[in-house]
Amino acid sequence: MSQIERIAVVFAAARSGIAAAANSAELEQVRVAVFGKKGSLSTLLRQMGALPKEQRAEIGRSMNTARDELEAAFEARAAALKHAELEASLATGAVDVTLPGRSFTLGSQHLISRLTAEIVEVFRGIGYSVVEGTEIDTAYYNFTALNTPADHPSRSLQDTFFVHDRFGEAGANAAVEKTVALKGESDVVLRTQTSGVQVHVMERQRPPIYILAPGRVYRRDVADPTHLPQFTQIEGLVVDKGITFGDLKGTLEYFCEQVFGADRKTRFRPHFFPFTEPSAEVDVSCGICGGAGCRSCGGTGWLEILGCGMVDPNVYGFVGIDPEVYSGFAFGLGVERIACLKYNVPDLRLLLEGDMRFLRQF
Ligand code: DAH
Repeated sequence: MSQIERIAVVFAAARSGIAAAANSAELEQVRVAVFGKKGSLSTLLRQMGALPKEQRAEIGRSMNTARDELEAAFEARAAALKHAELEASLATGAVDVTLPGRSFTLGSQHLISRLTAEIVEVFRGIGYSVVEGTEIDTAYYNFTALNTPADHPSRSLQDTFFVHDRFGEAGANAAVEKTVALKGESDVVLRTQTSGVQVHVMERQRPPIYILAPGRVYRRDVADPTHLPQFTQIEGLVVDKGITFGDLKGTLEYFCEQVFGADRKTRFRPHFFPFTEPSAEVDVSCGICGGAGCRSCGGTGWLEILGCGMVDPNVYGFVGIDPEVYSGFAFGLGVERIACLKYNVPDLRLLLEGDMRFLRQF
C-alpha cells in the first residue's frame, strides 16, 4: 500500500469512527485514537518525513485540509451527542408537577409540657427561678427530711414505687421485705412528689430562696378518670425574712388569676401536710357549672388544684436554716389536674394515651 493509500484509509476510518460514536464516552475514545499523541493522525504526520521530497508539499496540504474537515466533523458530532444526552436526561428526570405534594406534619408540644411552661412563666415573672430535681431519689429527701416519719402511711409499699436498695442487696424481694419492715434511709424511690426538691435546694442554697421545681412524680395508683400512676407536679418554695401566710395567699391567688382568668374564684381550705404548718388546699371554682355544682366537681362547685402551707420548722431543722430568722411557704400543684380544669378534660387518662385526635385540640 502506498503512503497515499494509507493516508486515505486512516482518514476514512477516522471519519466513520466519529460518525459511529453513539455517545460522548465513545466519541472520547475515538478522539484519543485519532487525535491523541499516539493517535492515527499524529502517527501519519510523523511519517511525513519519509515521503519523497516532490510529493511532500502537495500531500501535506491535502492532509491539512482533511484534518480540518475531521476536526470539524468531530466538533459537530460532539455537539450533537451532548444535545441528545441533555434532552434524554431532561426527559427521564422530568417532574410531574400535577402530582399532589408531600405534606409535613409539624409536631407540637404536648398539652402538659405547654401548660407547665406557661405556669413556670407566671412565676418567673414575679422573680422565681427554676430548679430541676431527679425522678429517682432517696426516701430521705422524698419523706424523712420533709417531716414524714418512717411509719407514715404514704411511705408504705401500697403507695410508693421503691426502686432498689441503695446498698445493692437489690432484688425486688429484698426491697419489699425491708420496706414492709419500714426500713430507714437507704430506700430509693420513684419520687411521689416534687417536694423533695425543697430539701435539696435548702441544703445548698441560703435564703432568700424563690424557686419553682416542675417534674414528673409516681404513685402506686391505678389509672382512672381522676388518678394517674405518673403525673406532673410543680413545686414552689419561698424562704426569706418576714414571709407570712398573706404572702402565700397573695401569690397563689395571683397565679390562679393568671392561669384561669379573673372570673374563676379560689378558696383556701385547711388541710394537713407533714412539711407545712399551717397547711391548706386551694380549690378553684368549677368551670363547667360555674360553681353551682355538677358531676365534674362532685356537686361541690369546687375543684382542688394544689396543696400549700408555711414551711414547718422541723424541715428547717434538717437543712440548717434558722426558723427564728427566716420563714417561708411552699406549694405543690398538679399540672394534669389544672389542665383538666382549664380545658374541661373529663378523664385524666386522655392526657397519657397519646391519641392525636384528642391532643390536636390543644
Ligand atoms: N407534695 C404534696 C402532694 O403531692 C403537695 C404539696 C402540699 C406540696 C403542700 C407543698 C405543700 O409544697 O406545701 O400532695
